[in-house]
Amino acid sequence: MDLEFAINGERFNINSIDPSTTLLEFLRFNTPFKSVKLACGEGGCGACMVLLSKYDPELEKVKEFSINSCLTLLCSINGCSITTSEGLGNTKKGFHPIHKRFAGFHASQCGFCTPGMCISLYSALANAAGYNSSSKSNELTVSEAEKCVVGNLCRCTGYRPIVDVCKSFASDVDIEDLGFNSFWKKGENKEVMLENLPPYNPKDHLVTFPEFLKKNKKKVVYNGLDHSRYRWTTPFSIDELHNSIKSSNSGDSLKLVVGNTGTGYYKDEERFDRYIDISQIPEMSMIKKDEKGIEIGAAVTISNVIDALMEESKSFYVFKKMAAHMEKIGNRSIRNSGSIGGNLVMAQSRKFPSDITTLLLAADASVYMLNGKKTEKVRLWEFLELPSISDSRLVLLKVEIPLWTAPSGDDTELLFQSYRASPRSIGNALPYVNAAFFAVVSRQELSRSGVMVDKCLLAFGSYGGDHSIRATEVENFLTGKLLSYSVLYEAVGLLKGIIVPGKETTHAEYRKSLAVGFLFEFFYPLIENSHRICSLDPEKSLPFLSSSQQVLESNEFHPIGEAVIKVGAALQASGEAVFVDDIPTLPDCLHGAFIYSTEPLAKIKNISFSENVTPTGVFAVLTFKDIPKQGQNIGSKTLFGPGPLFADELTIYAGQRIALVVADTQKHADKAAKLAVVEYDKQNLEEPILTVEDAVKRSSFFEVHPMFYPEPVGDVLKGMQEAELKIHSAELRLKSQYFFYMEPQTALALPDEDNSVKVFSSSQAPEYVHSVIATCLGIQEHSVRVITRRVGGGFGGKAVKSMPVATACALGAYKLQRPVKMYLNRKTDMIMAGGRHPMKITYNVGFRSDGKVMALEVTMLIDAGIEPDVSPIMPRNIMGPLRKYDWGALSFDVKVCKTNLLSRTAMRAPGEVQGSYIAESIIENVASSLQMDVDAVRKINLHTYESLGKFYKHIAGDHGEYTLPLLWDKLEISSKFKERVEMVKEFNMCNVWRKKGISRVPIIHQVMHRPTPGKVSILSDGSVVVEVGGIEIGQGLWTKVQQMVAYGLGMVKCKESEELIKRIRVVQNDTLGLIQGGFTAGSTTSESSCEAVRLCCVILVERLKPTMEKSGSMTWNTLIQQAYAQAVNLSASTLYKPEYSSMEYLNYGVGVSEAKVDLVTGRTEILRSDIIYDCGKSLNPAVDLGQIEGAFVQGIGFFMMEEYTTDEKGLVVQQGTWDYHIPTVDSIPKQFNVEILNTGHHKNRVLSSKASGEPPLLLAASVHCATRAAIREARKQSLSWNCNDGNRDESGMDFELPVPATMPVVKSLCGLYSVEKYLYNVTHFKNV
Ligand SMILES: Cc1cc2nc3c(=O)[nH]c(=O)nc-3n(C[C@H](O)[C@H](O)[C@H](O)COP(=O)(O)OP(=O)(O)OC[C@H]3O[C@@H](n4cnc5c(N)ncnc54)[C@H](O)[C@@H]3O)c2cc1C
Ligand code: FES
Ligand code: FES
Repeated sequence: MDLEFAINGERFNINSIDPSTTLLEFLRFNTPFKSVKLACGEGGCGACMVLLSKYDPELEKVKEFSINSCLTLLCSINGCSITTSEGLGNTKKGFHPIHKRFAGFHASQCGFCTPGMCISLYSALANAAGYNSSSKSNELTVSEAEKCVVGNLCRCTGYRPIVDVCKSFASDVDIEDLGFNSFWKKGENKEVMLENLPPYNPKDHLVTFPEFLKKNKKKVVYNGLDHSRYRWTTPFSIDELHNSIKSSNSGDSLKLVVGNTGTGYYKDEERFDRYIDISQIPEMSMIKKDEKGIEIGAAVTISNVIDALMEESKSFYVFKKMAAHMEKIGNRSIRNSGSIGGNLVMAQSRKFPSDITTLLLAADASVYMLNGKKTEKVRLWEFLELPSISDSRLVLLKVEIPLWTAPSGDDTELLFQSYRASPRSIGNALPYVNAAFFAVVSRQELSRSGVMVDKCLLAFGSYGGDHSIRATEVENFLTGKLLSYSVLYEAVGLLKGIIVPGKETTHAEYRKSLAVGFLFEFFYPLIENSHRICSLDPEKSLPFLSSSQQVLESNEFHPIGEAVIKVGAALQASGEAVFVDDIPTLPDCLHGAFIYSTEPLAKIKNISFSENVTPTGVFAVLTFKDIPKQGQNIGSKTLFGPGPLFADELTIYAGQRIALVVADTQKHADKAAKLAVVEYDKQNLEEPILTVEDAVKRSSFFEVHPMFYPEPVGDVLKGMQEAELKIHSAELRLKSQYFFYMEPQTALALPDEDNSVKVFSSSQAPEYVHSVIATCLGIQEHSVRVITRRVGGGFGGKAVKSMPVATACALGAYKLQRPVKMYLNRKTDMIMAGGRHPMKITYNVGFRSDGKVMALEVTMLIDAGIEPDVSPIMPRNIMGPLRKYDWGALSFDVKVCKTNLLSRTAMRAPGEVQGSYIAESIIENVASSLQMDVDAVRKINLHTYESLGKFYKHIAGDHGEYTLPLLWDKLEISSKFKERVEMVKEFNMCNVWRKKGISRVPIIHQVMHRPTPGKVSILSDGSVVVEVGGIEIGQGLWTKVQQMVAYGLGMVKCKESEELIKRIRVVQNDTLGLIQGGFTAGSTTSESSCEAVRLCCVILVERLKPTMEKSGSMTWNTLIQQAYAQAVNLSASTLYKPEYSSMEYLNYGVGVSEAKVDLVTGRTEILRSDIIYDCGKSLNPAVDLGQIEGAFVQGIGFFMMEEYTTDEKGLVVQQGTWDYHIPTVDSIPKQFNVEILNTGHHKNRVLSSKASGEPPLLLAASVHCATRAAIREARKQSLSWNCNDGNRDESGMDFELPVPATMPVVKSLCGLYSVEKYLYNVTHFKNV
């Protein structure tokens, strides 16, 4: 029978397909449903999420759950119904309440993640309604609602508003707890609030399963696909399975499939001769429980395993613990399709760091395998030791978990506990180490007071060994022993010999110390007479997220200042908003992928394909030689010079573009690029420059124009002489950060008549893209047109780095006279993106004993990489925010080093975030050396208005504009800073294994307006079309522009001009329609674009005045009709040019963060962050709030989580969501309070507004500083423990906390051996 399924109620019948086709590929290439986005292709981001509905004809029930369409094979959805976000609602049939609430809670910025978010929420609602169909309304609870987007990444919003949307559907929500939104005003009563919320009723808003599929379902269930046409077999019994395996020719490659989620990890691109779907075999999909235990078929999904274990959990506590742990595996949609068997086989055959094997080992589980026709039972530990079962075509049939019940007797206890240290606390990241412990212990009689270990099973996994293991030596040692500190100390010693991570394992010592820590956590509370010290608090439950926003709307310049909903927010939620990859392409469209260099400096001898076979679908391979004669090898340009599109004969950094493979599909192009073989020759070449130190040795620097090199301040020599104390040659290093825009780099180029090209580019700088393409192709600029509608996240990464992508497509289109599109896969994107500048900083600082700094000398070596990009602006950008304190006198030497590394570029707050952080690090160091309270040192060094003028000259503005001291004091009160400092002290006194820190950080961030064009045209029906130079990258630029045009044209003061906003449409950027667009960067493009259109409106209002005056009061429509009749020019364009004297200004903000550090794992929990930020008079407080929160959370990523590193050749190490961890909903502050201060009139600003896009990112340093404070407490404690057992940590009080402060970093600073040290002390000295 045919493959049949439904998408959004529409029937699809496919009579043959390549079985490796994923659902995502089908949706995006064969249907109009484009809401499903590809952002990682590995199950880690949720952008591709859809709802899968399965009908059970026996039970006549529909089961619905979310799945990742990027991993799901199309053949496996036979007979199912798929719902995408546009299927929930859309512009034609009306938006779904989920879409409306996403818009109204301001929870969509660039919108690339939003459809996936909507599906996650929808699936939670469908489940809630399904599980309890008798319920009147939904039964989603707040705690479930908060977790329903755990598997979705968003790089823009900071999650808080998304969580509010989710919570708004919860039956137990207190509506007053929901954040700022457009449905109600603060202070309105609850009834009004509820009434205004777009209503949701499961009966009306849940989609129904198509009847035509119900009718066919039985056929599907009992027949499966015609396997001759699909190479896809669905056996319905073990015998059929056996026959299928046997009948496939021995040489055929064969793949057993359940959820296919394994490809997310292994990225197998192999196309198998045959796929066998094992999900329909009753024995493999059953769950059977009896008094001996529970049997689970290998094809049962992890979600169903969790449900089954939970059902049993009342009587069997072990199952409950296992289920709770399993809820942290991957994310909900992975668990919905991934099977328990798939997980075990991945662990057994391919060393996957599984959680499930660890849990099952501790429960002493067994597995059954099908070997030929024979069924074999083996214990799990034996199974793990077998040779790869995948290679030997064995099938895992089921898992058997014995039932462990507590032995009778009051003094015997059964214990089971599992542990998991992972970069994200509630899932969506693999663990560094996991562990599960089972023990039967008996409490001994009083005379022999203590706890005896009668039996124990101790399992550890994911530490870098071949698979999970049981620590049998430790088990044997502990069994029969009375627990004591010394026994535990010995056990720990034994364990360290067993946990041996493999050679390639990262953070090997850290992982070992985690294993030790978990063992300690388990047994420690059992040791009698435990100390005055509190227990380890093993229940690290996630408290509800809470937040508050204080935002002042103003209607002085109506509708400017009002929290107008973001333009197109509902469209973004439904997925109808069009991104570059959503533009329908012509059938002859080709697709490109880059071949990149893996050598930092080498001659390119030859480029070929593996085994000299041209891979399927390849059409051409273009190199620098294919650039037209009249053109140039150029792929980017900035004020500081061009960068090449391709390497020529010589590659000069790893990751450099060498060639473009053009093929019939993106999949083929990507595969071909992977199969490319580049031969290099390194003879007679000097060594590449791979460090800033090398660059200094070889004087390899980029020139910095004096314009970008600020002047020193004061007399440093004198300041140093006056200083009572000095710190000399302190050093710190800062690493890079990757943008992780959800939409990867992409472009589509179309050849056009007369040798011209049209290019759709996801770019923050279309004007430059345009010019680069023209230069590369050697054609005049009028023959190039670049169009950008919206960008799925930019953060600076879609400025310079978007240019080569668009240029390569244009070259392909020009040369091959066919449309060429590129959609970079995440790995290539990460390899080429560059990201933030790493740097090395050395400083000398002189200060008084009261903490006042007298002089600072800083030396910086900035690693710019190979091309100048925009790196020469870095000295200016860094030194701006670094001057936020009164250093007395300041001198610096900043070198922009040219290295054979990929070129770094401007990432949100480029240089500014580093400059601001460097200032904090210096202050921390001064405070630490004086043993003073760091907040007091900050305060004493805050600028007075006078010193501000000394450090910032004319940019300092008027006295009244310097609001930092006001913010500093205001936040002290609103965040209850002083009280909380005391509470933190108290907490630290009575807790050994958790320490807290709290920190307050100020920022001063300089921004600059740039010339920006705008054009406003009034059409004959009175609607208004607006074009601006700025690009909508999610920052709400279009919304502010729309408001500004409504305000500007409103000055005409005719009837209904109040309603003008509804008639205004901002349209895509077209470089031939509006020239001189420049870069969208530096936080000020919204303001500048607003000012440009305001000036256009002034012209139009002036032109309309005579008509208005002639005819008296009239409606807008009449006015425009008359103006048309009188041939008034109703289109105005302008280039706003800021005044030199006021084009730069300062932004101020203060953040207070409180963090808790777990000494056992190194995990930092952000308990609370309070921000106060001066937005002047916000143009749109909803948009600005989103920018502030989003930037802060991106800053958390930089300071705490994201590692973007290169290997010894300079090639980027991280490849995607598995090893690059941006914040998720569980990484944001548990309590997140933001206040936007409306500081009134600023005469030189655009309607008194100030920037919000980048400066708040700097405030995330408060989290880092709070973590540093907590670590300091840990080190203080560690110092008080004597230790002479060789396990000494570097535990002095002078330490630098690296950025990012990841778990391994934090733990190593708190003490990798703190457990051993503690146990040694308590055993030998009893003094803890
Ligand atoms: C984003 C993501 C995050 C994840 N996070 C975690 C995590 O935190 N912890 C964790 O433990 N796991 C994690 N996983 C792994 C996940 O649990 C597995 O991918 C899943 O369980 C595999 O099941 P599947 O049905 O999709 O297997 P498939 O992908 O269909 O199969 C996987 C492999 O096993 C083979 N196979 C499957 N079933 C059998 C069988 N019965 N007999 C013989 N061979 C078989 C297949 O041929 C294939 O080679 C994660 C996976 C993803 C994609
Ligand atoms: S694209 Fe599927 S999860 Fe990221
Ligand atoms: S709005 Fe979520 S990624 Fe942009």
